[in-house]
Amino acid sequence: MIVHTPAELAAARGALSGTVALVPTMGALHEGHRSLIRAAREIADHVVVSVFVNPLQFGEKADLDRYPRTLEADAAICAEEGVALVFAPSAADMYPREPVVTVSAGEMGTVVEGASRPGHFDGVLTVVTKLFGLVRPDSALFGQKDAQQLAVIRRLSEDLNLGVRIVACPTVREADGLALSSRNRFLSPDERVTAVALSRALFAGRDAVELGPAGVLAAAGAVLDAAAKAEPPLDRDYLVLADSVTFSPVTAGHSGPAVLAVAARVGETRLIDNLPLEF
Ligand code: PAF
Repeated sequence: MIVHTPAELAAARGALSGTVALVPTMGALHEGHRSLIRAAREIADHVVVSVFVNPLQFGEKADLDRYPRTLEADAAICAEEGVALVFAPSAADMYPREPVVTVSAGEMGTVVEGASRPGHFDGVLTVVTKLFGLVRPDSALFGQKDAQQLAVIRRLSEDLNLGVRIVACPTVREADGLALSSRNRFLSPDERVTAVALSRALFAGRDAVELGPAGVLAAAGAVLDAAAKAEPPLDRDYLVLADSVTFSPVTAGHSGPAVLAVAARVGETRLIDNLPLEF
């Protein structure tokens, strides 16, 4: 069943008894989303999927306009996967007026991905808080692919006592390693070849973990440097080793868990990926 307005959602949600797991998405669903939905079905009586391209988390209007919108196909996937409710509001349904009160990711929202996309994580946290208020889920599932998003959402639920259990699901990859993303559909065949360098860089970094943080960054950086000379080239935005909880950069002598995170542009398409590592 698809509902569009908060009032329709409230009525449909009220009819669900038992536990509810929410899978928040921006649509253009792929195998990665299917894996989130399947994991959600394992832990709850009902699954709600939200499909909303949230304007608050986009810096550039062009990026927002370009984001794929495929609601019919998304609804078909949800039906196949046994989703109880698809919530697909319009921007006016979600933001009937300019919000005065929003949620800030604080320092965590200004580093790594947040440094490249100012305000992005505040926009994510604001919409996720609204979705939690509207859907009232027991749990919500997010992909490890957006590792920093996952980390700030964990802090959101803990710091504001939202009572929603945050569940992380592993990144789903193509056979050659490219992480699934709704943005992959924008890659031309040649760009798709170059784009695999993101995951190759991460795997090279993982293979160098015994050399410590500097060795990991050197090994991963070498793969990105080679891809920068490919045709079409990869244009690196960042390659960082970050603390998996705070996302601040880790130092040379770091021991324990960390996230190796990369962002790069191939043609017009900006891609991100990451790998959890243990030092
Ligand atoms: O990961 C996404 O698709 C979005 O950032 C989310 C969590 C649905 C919020 O708009």
